[in-house]
Amino acid sequence: MKLADNKATLSFSNGKPSVELPVYQGNIGPDVIDIRKLYGQTGMFTYDPGFLSTASCQSAITYIDGDKGELLYRGYPIEQLATQCDFLETCHLLLYGDLPNAAKKVEFTQRVTMHTMVNEQMQFFLRGFRRDAHPMAVLTGLIGALSAFYHDSTDINNPEHREIAAIRLIAKLPTLVAMAYKYGIGQPYMYPRNDLSYSGNFLRMMFGTPCEDYKVNPVLERALDRIFVLHADHEQNASTSTVRLCGSSGTNPFAAIAAGVACLWGPAHGGANEACLNMLEDIQRQGGIAKVGEYMEQVKDKNSGVRLMGFGHRVYKNYDPRAKLMQETCKEVLAELGLEKDPLFKLAMAVEKIAVEDDYFVQRKLYPNVDFYSGIVQRAIGIPVNLFTGIFALARTVGWIAQLNEMISDPEYKIGRPRQLYTGSPRRDVPPMAKR
Ligand code: CMC
Repeated sequence: MKLADNKATLSFSNGKPSVELPVYQGNIGPDVIDIRKLYGQTGMFTYDPGFLSTASCQSAITYIDGDKGELLYRGYPIEQLATQCDFLETCHLLLYGDLPNAAKKVEFTQRVTMHTMVNEQMQFFLRGFRRDAHPMAVLTGLIGALSAFYHDSTDINNPEHREIAAIRLIAKLPTLVAMAYKYGIGQPYMYPRNDLSYSGNFLRMMFGTPCEDYKVNPVLERALDRIFVLHADHEQNASTSTVRLCGSSGTNPFAAIAAGVACLWGPAHGGANEACLNMLEDIQRQGGIAKVGEYMEQVKDKNSGVRLMGFGHRVYKNYDPRAKLMQETCKEVLAELGLEKDPLFKLAMAVEKIAVEDDYFVQRKLYPNVDFYSGIVQRAIGIPVNLFTGIFALARTVGWIAQLNEMISDPEYKIGRPRQLYTGSPRRDVPPMAKR
């Protein structure tokens, strides 16, 4: 962190002495005012529900310029990574800070591939769930349970443990997601095949059966890989902040990632792709494109509680760059599968067209986000709607671990402990039962 030339002065209208606060500069993006000594100097906290103006950490991993619609992983634009690198190269970049050269790529791929299998006991643990359990409920449990199986990588303060945990999590997530799916539909689990690519292996574990050979379709393999790259990290969003906060207590990496999975499940975050597809299917059932106008009226009516899912973002006040790349992939996949006339895709295009021209959305800078098209791609590939967020969790795991490892290695790291503005009752005495 670099100190800026200027300082911030906080003054009070009640005559209290003003305080000078240091200002730090990042490499790009807004400066921050350091308020760490504020309580000591003034006896006051800052108030910022939802962290609208608060940087909770310093980070060198991901940068977002929400006004420009720019996303960089370790400085590289998402457009270049999505078109020139695969997911495992992206994982290497996020974890270690740079893209691997050819030799390092082989070595890293080999290392991840050698950890794709999960402990055989895992399937008995899985058996405790109802067959109709939501995959995110299952995944939260399975990922948390990894800490009960891999005792040699649970010490968050040991860099070697953190490294093995990172590789295990990246390698095993596809296996666990596919197991959760197969369990739900009552098919046998498919063991990983280490001669396939990361996404090719996942496709086979999802859609293959022991009865016949599974041939990986390269267009779907590439599409899935792109979904993984686009979702790999997104700086301090709700689930990443959850992983950091959970990990700040010193808990093991598997437990911290399970906390991230639980947070991601919500419809305002990772659950939005599922919610978005359900919304499109709902509009389709009500009459399709002809009903979009009516649906938009509900969205704009504050009393309806209806939001246009897949639209809007806390940080992007411009087109989400991931949404553009996802739209491209969507077209490729639908063409490959002969689904160009897919009514849901047409409906999505109609919704997008109306929304980006509508004053309500323009004024509030609400643009499509990555989830708007990713659901259509996943549905075309054959992934069931309730597994969409699980796919997101699979892809985001590397980002969560990179952020967790960065936090632990930061000399300024402390257990996370926000403060509050108390609005409850002042001290009072418990009345006897007869007087309550
Ligand atoms: N549909 C209709 N109105 C919206 C929407 C939407 N999707 N998103 C925001 N608004 C309105 C909101 O009602 C408010 O209007 P007003 O100023 O008149 O009260 C204004 O826009 C600002 O909204 P906000 O709720 O203060 O914005 P936020 O930054 O807190 O919320 C968000 C961001 C993503 C939660 C929200 O845009 C949303 O609920 N979108 C739909 C869910 C979604 O697609 N989520 C995926 C996010 S991207 C993937 C990820 O990172 O997980």
